[in-house]
Amino acid sequence: MTSLTLQRPDDWHVHLRDGANLSAVVNFTASRFGRAIVMPNLNPAIVNLALARAYRERILKALAPGMGFEPLMTLYLTHNTSPEEIARAHASGFVHGVKLYPAGATTHSDAGVSDITKVYGALARMQELGMPLLVHGETTSGDIDIFDRESHFIESVLHPLIERFPTLRLVFEHITTAHAVTFVCEAREGIAATITPQHLLHNRNALFTGGIRPHYYCLPILKREHDRQALLGAATSGNPKFFLGTDSAPHERKAKENACGCAGMFTAHAAIELYAEAFESMNRLDRLEGFASHFGADFYKLPRARDTITLIKESWVAPISYNFGEGTLIPYRGGENIPWRLLAKEAL
Ligand code: NCD
Ligand code: ZN
Repeated sequence: MTSLTLQRPDDWHVHLRDGANLSAVVNFTASRFGRAIVMPNLNPAIVNLALARAYRERILKALAPGMGFEPLMTLYLTHNTSPEEIARAHASGFVHGVKLYPAGATTHSDAGVSDITKVYGALARMQELGMPLLVHGETTSGDIDIFDRESHFIESVLHPLIERFPTLRLVFEHITTAHAVTFVCEAREGIAATITPQHLLHNRNALFTGGIRPHYYCLPILKREHDRQALLGAATSGNPKFFLGTDSAPHERKAKENACGCAGMFTAHAAIELYAEAFESMNRLDRLEGFASHFGADFYKLPRARDTITLIKESWVAPISYNFGEGTLIPYRGGENIPWRLLAKEAL
């Protein structure tokens, strides 16, 4: 039997939702990861320190007994985010980043940024403090092809932004294209990226295998095979600019299986197991620990974990659904085989 022991990994991009939905999902993340960067796109959004503090408390309350999990909070950047609020959040010690959603780019992003010049004051303060900016990197305008929105954003927003703020620390979240890989590799120090399991395991054909597959719809949308290959190359390269961020984003079944279905894939029930599968496909399991457990912590200037998890190569079948608030949640690959299984610290 093959087994793999890693320093406990962290998830540098996750959506934990709130209320009953939070309780339904948080322990999947907490049983695998020591910490997670928690996205602030609730409705209403987490736009200030007081809201982040209260949300953090709700997350801690929803944890099962014995979970030593630390939520790392983020603020949702709006045109009204003041430099003072940034400084207060930074001083709190529990807010670790500020998320930039281009207005209209994705779930609950309406309050996001439509004019980047309006957040220059906040960004200047973040640069001064070394507070990372976490970016959903897609152009939103309807005249740009959905498969080109990440590329367009790199050229129209990211390049000029990192020139204007030459020491701003920035995470390009859930990158999906070969173009983004090249951009991050060539970018100055202080620029990093997260990569999701679904973008390592699938190309856009997954959306249309035998019919339309809403549970494979996420944003940024799955891309072409050559993009997937570039992401696999980056994740398994050992380059510390690339690290783990699942973007696990649960939605109620009815909101996904809908004439206008929501974007987001739920992968938290098997997150690290799925990365093991992707790394194994490249014969690079030896590089999983850097990607999953070291590089993100180093980027965020947090200590690496002191405990470990163990994965074994033993296939299991993911449940076809989980309870989720009043409804149900269809997990990624529900009812299908997952080749790696979490051993230490019991999986749910
Ligand atoms: C996320 C969500 O549902 O909150 N959806 C997604 O497809 N990834 C939002 C996001 O990260 O874009
Ligand atoms: Zn996300």
